[in-house]
Amino acid sequence: MDLVVLGLGYVGLPLAQQALRAGLSVVGYDVNIDVVRALNDGSSHVDDLSDADIAEMLRHGFRATTDQSEIGTAETAVICVPTPLSEDGGPELKAVKAAAHSVARSLRAGMLVVLESTTYPGTTDDVVRPILEKSGLTAGVDFFLAFSPERIDPGNEHYGTHNTPKVVGGDTPESTDRAAAFYSRFIEKVVRANGTREAETAKLLENTYRHINIALVNEMARFCHELGIDLWDVINAASTKPFGFQAFYPGPGVGGHCIPIDPNYLSHNVRAKLGYPFRFVELAQEINATMPSYVASRAQNILNDAGLAMNGASVLLLGVTYKADIADQRESPATPLARRLAALGAKVTYHDPRVERWSVSGFEVPKVNDLEGAVASADLVILVQNHREYEANRLAEVAKRFFDTRGVTSGEKSHRL
Ligand SMILES: NC(=O)c1ccc[n+]([C@@H]2O[C@H](COP(=O)([O-])OP(=O)(O)OC[C@H]3O[C@@H](n4cnc5c(N)ncnc54)[C@H](O)[C@@H]3O)[C@@H](O)[C@H]2O)c1
Repeated sequence: MDLVVLGLGYVGLPLAQQALRAGLSVVGYDVNIDVVRALNDGSSHVDDLSDADIAEMLRHGFRATTDQSEIGTAETAVICVPTPLSEDGGPELKAVKAAAHSVARSLRAGMLVVLESTTYPGTTDDVVRPILEKSGLTAGVDFFLAFSPERIDPGNEHYGTHNTPKVVGGDTPESTDRAAAFYSRFIEKVVRANGTREAETAKLLENTYRHINIALVNEMARFCHELGIDLWDVINAASTKPFGFQAFYPGPGVGGHCIPIDPNYLSHNVRAKLGYPFRFVELAQEINATMPSYVASRAQNILNDAGLAMNGASVLLLGVTYKADIADQRESPATPLARRLAALGAKVTYHDPRVERWSVSGFEVPKVNDLEGAVASADLVILVQNHREYEANRLAEVAKRFFDTRGVTSGEKSHRL
């Protein structure tokens, strides 16, 4: 085997797919037996890969397994397991450690091991290396160790694994060379970082940069509304500057993994190691986390202007995933928004072509299937994610009241964030 991918999710599967397409032999290892079975039966559980894609992978010889002993049959092991937050908001590296132990058990001389899971600087060297060295082999001497951040953007039709430049940083220059040579076999451009810590921090800088800039426009959205300034128009005007400005847009809150969670890995690490806060991240966290309740209070005001109370009003949420055109609900801002609206007494329903069932705080939120009928009858419609199925301007025309948190409507009838 050329490659074993540990963790067959949003990151691991597209990686395996590209490697297979370039002619590498690939086996996938996952601890979730249901995921393994479904993949071997040709069924995909991530947005960016269809069942046909999995069938193509299987035709190219791909197999998923829960058998650890297969790890040692590969020349390269890439770890793509989850790195969530722990109860106290700090890094939760259980899966990374478990995966590293699995590799250590069958590590062979000459193998390349790459960590791709997003994590704080020092994880590859301080956490993964000692576990792998329990095998009796030494990193940089007997085997090669590197970090390479995953930059996948689910739902992005232009940039996927093969054409997004890949940053690699090894624990020694030779490990960097090995990792660069490996990824060059199926990724167009490989970028060398000085070492594992630089590669780890590059990923956190990218995500923190987005987090902070989204918080900036979210904070501006609040006072621009008070001042009667159309922030969407402001951003369009500013975006015409051909240098020094990149547009970010306000919204109902941030979701997914990269923006709400990853920057915490950095701020937690700075606090734990150095004893002081990473103030930008903590401020951005505070602003972005309060957006769902800000949206709820704006919704309340829209009803109030019409002489209605939120208590008892029917409120329809359109799009409850964390971003448009994908099915992933992780950290979706629709959840705290629905919780807040329900606490105010609203009768909340939702529509989402990609979400069959949706529970908030243990209660199943009723789903509407007749989109137009439900939009016309609700006291208030809130556009949370603008999925491609929605013709927002037309829906705003049909609705009694329409609150557009994405700035995509233009009519008089719509209230924009
Ligand atoms: N989803 C994204 O958009 C995205 C983008 C960039 C980076 N990342 C990062 O990539 C990493 C993986 O994220 P994901 O979205 O692919 O997660 P995911 O939850 O979609 O998939 C992870 C898979 O790993 C498996 N797993 C858990 N523990 C394991 C173990 N010990 N051994 C083998 N498999 C194990 C799980 O069963 C699951 O199938 C995270 O660190 C995340 O921050 C994700």
